Amino acid sequence: MDKLTIRDVALQNKRVLIRVDFNVPLDGNGCITDDTRIRRSLPTIRYVLEHGGKAILMSHLGRPRGKRVPEMSLRPVADRLAELLEREVSLAEDCVGEVVEGRVSAMKGGSVLLLENLRFHREETDNDPGFAGKLASLGDVYVNDAFGTAHRAHASTAGITEHVAVAAAGFLMEKEIEYLGLAVGDPRRPFLAVLGGAKVSGKLEVVQNLLGRVDGLLIGGGMACTFLKARGLEIGESLVEDDLLDVAREAMAEAEKRDIPFLLPVDGVVAERIEAGAPTRVVPVEGIPPGWRMLDIGPETAKVFGGKLAGAGTVIWNGPMGVFEIPDFAAGTEAVARALAEIESATTIVGGGDSVAAVNRLGLVEKLSHVSTGGGASLEFLEGKVLPGIAALDEGLGTTDQGLASTEIEK
Ligand code: 3PG
Repeated sequence: MDKLTIRDVALQNKRVLIRVDFNVPLDGNGCITDDTRIRRSLPTIRYVLEHGGKAILMSHLGRPRGKRVPEMSLRPVADRLAELLEREVSLAEDCVGEVVEGRVSAMKGGSVLLLENLRFHREETDNDPGFAGKLASLGDVYVNDAFGTAHRAHASTAGITEHVAVAAAGFLMEKEIEYLGLAVGDPRRPFLAVLGGAKVSGKLEVVQNLLGRVDGLLIGGGMACTFLKARGLEIGESLVEDDLLDVAREAMAEAEKRDIPFLLPVDGVVAERIEAGAPTRVVPVEGIPPGWRMLDIGPETAKVFGGKLAGAGTVIWNGPMGVFEIPDFAAGTEAVARALAEIESATTIVGGGDSVAAVNRLGLVEKLSHVSTGGGASLEFLEGKVLPGIAALDEGLGTTDQGLASTEIEK
């Protein structure tokens, strides 16, 4: 990691302004249904408190588009964070302005203040310099730990760095960059990528970027059907992006030219309707009946993918193998999650909301090297894009003992 990290910065008595990604899912009653992102920010917050700093946290939640939307208040997050930290967490009524400035100046060392939803101000997503300056004035040191929002050039992730003396990465940000960076930059081989999810369009740039880096691509999920059709198969009513058939053909031709295995499903679970309890069949991909659609990879594919993964040195996985939120179509995604967890001494990295939900549900998080908190951000990283929230951070001090050594990254 060539960025300055929180370890490099003096924190004693400092107002440490930390951008976190507390954009967590809430149910209809305002209860947090998955607090992973809050938990993963704890090491940075605790470190600041242990080193005598005052932690001022800022985040967005949802997309309120510049309006004060009570349902998108960070109140539930403040309460959950207080439980996890076992200390008081105050929620400011806003994220900028005199009242907030007063709250910050009244803070004592070791205290925690969470600012209200940044996106209640449109200037946040507009990356407005004046707004960025107001945010910056609340801290002496700026730390970005919001990897999940690093692909957004917003006031609190990008613009703010123009107004602060120090802009460093927090521990979560550092870990995400280390793992994802290692995978795309210097992976232990063989390096395999498992990609899934509904659409090719969402993953096309990832496929194109990874083709020059991986030793094999394993494709499942709805997106596999576009590739199957591009190979000339009849795929019934399966999801297909006809406008991308040529691009899909080109990607497969490129893989062949580079001698990179491009594995598509050999069988699938098909149904006539995307519905729990709908009658299903397992068929070879050459035999998808007219009127039926493929909604999961089949058991033979899971076996083939599992066998291939067993010999990997590094694996990144992004996107489910089927409509896994319906149990009838979840077996393929679960099989891939288990296969990843079982690989001996490989670096295994999972990103993307649905694949992460699958490993969480199966209790496999501890068996994987890294589970990314970034959905869109991890995809853009894998596409090879520069993420503005990372690019804006100060350069590191250039010492070799900062961050994780690559040997520590191995499982
Ligand atoms: C995410 O959940 O992907 C991040 O918090 C970014 O949210 P956004 O897509 O609303 O910018």
